[in-house]
Amino acid sequence: MHYIESGAGTPLVLLHAFPVDARMWDPLRVRLEEQVRVITPDQRGLGESALDGSWARGMLDERSASLIVDRPGVDVAAADVVELLDRLELPRVVLGGCSMGGYVASAVLRAAPQRVAGLLLVDTKAPADTEGQQANRLGVATRAEKEGTSGWLAESMLSNLLGASTRQRRPQVVEELRALIEAQPADGVAWAQRAMASRPDSLAALRAFEGPAMVVVGSEDTITPPEAAREMVDALPNGELVELPGVGHLPSLEAPDALARVLLPWLASIDV
Ligand code: MLT
Repeated sequence: MHYIESGAGTPLVLLHAFPVDARMWDPLRVRLEEQVRVITPDQRGLGESALDGSWARGMLDERSASLIVDRPGVDVAAADVVELLDRLELPRVVLGGCSMGGYVASAVLRAAPQRVAGLLLVDTKAPADTEGQQANRLGVATRAEKEGTSGWLAESMLSNLLGASTRQRRPQVVEELRALIEAQPADGVAWAQRAMASRPDSLAALRAFEGPAMVVVGSEDTITPPEAAREMVDALPNGELVELPGVGHLPSLEAPDALARVLLPWLASIDV
């Protein structure tokens, strides 16, 4: 699994949103790395991580690898994260995820809660998809496989991913995000949509997590709005909520200074 790592201190693994890759965390990483060891993997099929899990050759035979390609699921993405922790010899980490990354972080909580010393959920939500949302995802997956993702995917998502304030005032962020979306392989985009469509509700996993948890949401997030964040905080026994004003769905790109300001003291308080 491809990952970017920098810094030293509390190990923090950050899982990226859809349809981008680990580079969405770069503006935040440079603001944390003096105090934090920041590890940001590319999810299977996105960024530089191969869809067939070829980084794990030797652990998986070809048949098992092709079965995984044919069985998209957040549990598979979570197993990739746990395998990375094993490879880095990290028994416990602070685990964070933005949106799709939050769905995968919740799947890690279900599969291996003992590996999670602290939980960071950024602009994500707990409920499973409705049938309508699933159908929409399967439509996007099929279109990506047929047509590729050039042009239409970024065009259809940009206005939802970024807050209105960012879109109006920071055209360079819009263009950076467009380039990140354009860089994603179509088969990985399709796999990720199918994986998200089949994910279960994660409220029970959040209720069972007794460690420190922070839920961050942009006030202008229309994909996973502040109500979705409140539902997760209410479920978490040790959760705290931070709402970032004037920010949309991707605070690490839109407001990395504000995000780093809330994260640094919280991370320093966690005993990994
Ligand atoms: C994301 O940002 O990861 C996606 O918008 C999440 C989703 O499609 O549910």
